[in-house]
Amino acid sequence: MTSQSKNIVLGISAGIAAYKMYDLVKELKRLGHSVTVVLTKDARHFINELPLKVLSSNNVYCEMFSPEIQSKPVHIELADSADLVLLAPATADIIAKMACGISDELITSILLATRAPVYIAPAMNTNMWEHFTTQKNIETLVTKLGHKIIPPEDGDLVCGYSGIGHIAPNEKIIKTILYGDSETKPFLGKKIIVTAGGTREVIDPVRFIGNRSSGKMGLALADVVNSMGAEVVLVSTVSVDRNYQVIEVESAQEMQEVIESEFDKADALIMAAAVSDFRPITTSKQKIKKKNEDITIELTRNPDILEILGRTKREKQVIVGFSAESENIEKNAIEKLQKKKIDMIIANDITIPDIGFGADENAVIILTRDGSKEVLQRQSKIQIARHICNKLVDIFETPTKKESRGTKHEA
Ligand SMILES: Cc1cc2nc3c(=O)[nH]c(=O)nc-3n(C[C@H](O)[C@H](O)[C@H](O)COP(=O)(O)O)c2cc1C
Repeated sequence: MTSQSKNIVLGISAGIAAYKMYDLVKELKRLGHSVTVVLTKDARHFINELPLKVLSSNNVYCEMFSPEIQSKPVHIELADSADLVLLAPATADIIAKMACGISDELITSILLATRAPVYIAPAMNTNMWEHFTTQKNIETLVTKLGHKIIPPEDGDLVCGYSGIGHIAPNEKIIKTILYGDSETKPFLGKKIIVTAGGTREVIDPVRFIGNRSSGKMGLALADVVNSMGAEVVLVSTVSVDRNYQVIEVESAQEMQEVIESEFDKADALIMAAAVSDFRPITTSKQKIKKKNEDITIELTRNPDILEILGRTKREKQVIVGFSAESENIEKNAIEKLQKKKIDMIIANDITIPDIGFGADENAVIILTRDGSKEVLQRQSKIQIARHICNKLVDIFETPTKKESRGTKHEA
């Protein structure tokens, strides 16, 4: 083995792509690494122990309860000795177990016990992958546990479906676990500001003008942007605990101040927050007393952060806005895109029940300045965030297109 060689624990779960692990083990061995394979019980329907033993020149484990006397239980021994744990293919089932901390067999116990980096290469039917629960579990693994996902790919699946679900190619898995994951981190080296939540405009110490934004869309975007390698600055009206920079603000003016101080060094701004258009002209230091007469609160316009930055941004900076509409969704969004001189706008219809404000799901239209349009049917906000970020990658990667483009949408 070379000095760079690693102890890799490879967990194989019960997916049809398990057979590809013969080649993966062979290649990792060829590269000088030590591979210890751990099978789930159900994985034994898909792959045989003997060839894995021969290819890895190592024991293949499956049973939690060994009859032999050991100084350490096998799950702790393997968890402690691993330089990294790779789970490939990862079934929907094992992903769900990991997100809940279930340790009902050897590999799930290793995954809970190890302090080594964990890489997960999911593979499954498209509907299983796109299912809200699977996406929520993936989100937990990435944002709460810091695991790295090697995303499944698009194509024709053995189950007869066509769509996302193919396990990533072995070369990509190997590249990611051994040489860093720059390929799955297209935002490496980029600083991206994301705003989340609804601003509160203070009337007095107990009252404010607010809106129904929960911050879930902005948070999903910040999580995805972070998982794609960017330095994230989340400017949020909701309090969250994350492993990236979070700056809490309350009012539109506070949000504007923070964004303006960060924007100069940023490559992109994603304005997912619902910023109040108006604020009270005066704020009472004392609670306004109830009287037997009506009161009038005079409002003044808040600054339009998107419009200000759209006008002043540098050519390579990218601005993404949101457009919550109740009628003429696309037309109004295009007008906003053009008027504010921004690069992408995400339009959603706030009249559809159970999606958008406060919900875990949304349905949107993504419109870009170069005329592209993508309609996303109802799906989880984390999935929508991924689509938006992939579009952002396109914009970053095609500067000439961006520089030469006018606005191609007909408003
Ligand atoms: C032929 C066949 C293929 C399957 N392929 C997959 C798959 O690719 N991904 C997946 O998540 N589940 C798949 N399943 C379902 C899993 O095998 C099943 O959920 C199993 O209990 C998972 O066990 P494990 O996660 O403990 O390995 C498949 C089932 C069958 C019968």
